[in-house]
Amino acid sequence: MGASCAQRIAERGYGEVVLVDIVPGLAQGKALDIMQSAPILNADIRLSGTTDYQETADSELVIVTAGLFRTPGMTRDQLLLANMKIVTGVVNNIVKYSPQCIILMVSNPLDAMTYLAIQVSKFPRKRVVGMSGVLDAGRLSAFIAAELKVSPKDISPCVLGAHGRNMVVIPRLTTVKGKALTELLPKETIEKLVERVIHGGREIVDLLKKGSAFYAPSAGIARMAEAIVLDKKEVLPCAAYLDGEYGIKDSVIGVPVKLGKGGIEQIIELELSAEEKQALHTSAEGIRELIEKMVLS
Ligand code: 2OP
Repeated sequence: MGASCAQRIAERGYGEVVLVDIVPGLAQGKALDIMQSAPILNADIRLSGTTDYQETADSELVIVTAGLFRTPGMTRDQLLLANMKIVTGVVNNIVKYSPQCIILMVSNPLDAMTYLAIQVSKFPRKRVVGMSGVLDAGRLSAFIAAELKVSPKDISPCVLGAHGRNMVVIPRLTTVKGKALTELLPKETIEKLVERVIHGGREIVDLLKKGSAFYAPSAGIARMAEAIVLDKKEVLPCAAYLDGEYGIKDSVIGVPVKLGKGGIEQIIELELSAEEKQALHTSAEGIRELIEKMVLS
């Protein structure tokens, strides 16, 4: 995931990328391989690989993909305690070398790991954001596009909530060129598509057997990185710390946010129906349980 993400970002050419991995040679080898593609792609690529966080000093944006990933039969939540240790170590190094950066979390279980990164870093909430909504919304758009035989570019997806089984897909606010999905497809078809999005990561884990998705996740990361680095002020679904928004306090959950140079520049509150609100709150309760497990351990 990290290498794929470095490739996408480095090829866009808007910054210097440093890949870090604890395994000696791994980040260096990946970086060298990507760097050698630059002349072939006619691209200006500046990147390096290292095991030493010192080389990442004064980064503007740090993307955390570190941690274990699922194997078939596992849920993301089962990674909690192992990844908690890994992410804590990584975030301590980030704070030490890049105290002013924005942290973009990708490690799973995503919402809990983003919460952890805020606690460990003590960064203001606007400087820690999680990537999952862009991926889940991408999956939703891809499946709708295939079903309706339209361009995914014409779809404006709406996905909120946790990155997991309590994800909140909102068909009423998902539109295709302004028309709500609920007007375009029968209820049963929508339910099937939503189920497939919720289990989108697992479907790939089951097929790959020894790995989880990385092409679509790295595309999601690059999209968010671009919004931040280029100060695009783009509204994207991201995992953000809520302090009362949507009636949720002291938790991290997926909501639309405006992303720019300052990180999360605004949290957008959508008008939800009572049922949608309830689904979001149920989702938040699941995340809270994970957060409490981390506190107790
Ligand atoms: C996924 O959904 C890796 O959690 C990520 O594929």
